[in-house]
Amino acid sequence: MSSAVELYGVFGHPVAHSLSPFIHGIFARDCGEQVSYRAYDVAPEEFEERAKEFFASGGRGLNITLPHKIAAVEVAQELTARAAHAAAVNTLTLQDDGMVLGDNTDGAGLVRDLCDNLGLVVTQRRVLILGAGGSTRGVLAPLLGLEPAIVVIANRTPERAEALAAAFADLGVTQGVGFAYVGETPFDLIINATSASLSGDIPPIPAGAIGPETVCYDLAYGRSAMAFVRWAQQAGCARAVQGLGMLVEQAAESFQLWRGVRPETAHVLAALKERVGSL
Ligand code: ATR
Repeated sequence: MSSAVELYGVFGHPVAHSLSPFIHGIFARDCGEQVSYRAYDVAPEEFEERAKEFFASGGRGLNITLPHKIAAVEVAQELTARAAHAAAVNTLTLQDDGMVLGDNTDGAGLVRDLCDNLGLVVTQRRVLILGAGGSTRGVLAPLLGLEPAIVVIANRTPERAEALAAAFADLGVTQGVGFAYVGETPFDLIINATSASLSGDIPPIPAGAIGPETVCYDLAYGRSAMAFVRWAQQAGCARAVQGLGMLVEQAAESFQLWRGVRPETAHVLAALKERVGSL
């Protein structure tokens, strides 16, 4: 391997508060990899051109964050199966053959956080996922890969939940409903994948859906996860968790894809909790 520093980065808009340069900086140092990783604020109308320029000028890999994850599908010349399922890309890699591969490590990051960091068992358990937008679509295939008893997708607009449930029915038992119809039987795991917290709103699900054994998980972190985490704690769940672990684990998946080594994540997650604050 060449000893020259190789260039990676994240494209987003806005991107100033992205934690990815911090995370990848630690990964590179820990693994002794000669890597530079920067955040690029890229407006939607410039996305495709800037991404092509990045790779043409020697860039090796990009993380893609909001609002570009769908546009990145078009920039990729090949897609992994999980990116195709997600219909969204969060990692672009320049391969040795010159082709740009689009992958999506979000769902794998979630699964790693749930199973390895939090020690949860999802197999044969009942899972409720709130929201039926891009975030839900992005994590459904890896989640269903754990073979839960059922994944109920509940959404403000029930038709979107029904459509997603149907689109993923070949991967496991899925059901799409409106919030009022999730039932009164407690779920083992409730995942918030709505953007409702941004406006301080909590999806109006029946109180019985949360029990003393239920683990609640918000895909977001920091202030964006605060309303849901607080609400879940007050509802008496076993544990309510923000998505910082998923953030670190999806980054580790990307790093491994790019550099062929898997970084340690536990101390990075601890550092992020210090930085962002435990909820
Ligand atoms: P993302 O890519 O982050 O998932 P999205 O595709 O815009 O973003 O989806 C946002 C999700 O949050 C949707 O499920 C949306 O519900 P609708 O499909 O009915 O729009 C949900 N959402 C946003 N604001 C909400 C709110 N105040 N209450 C409940 N759900 C909300």
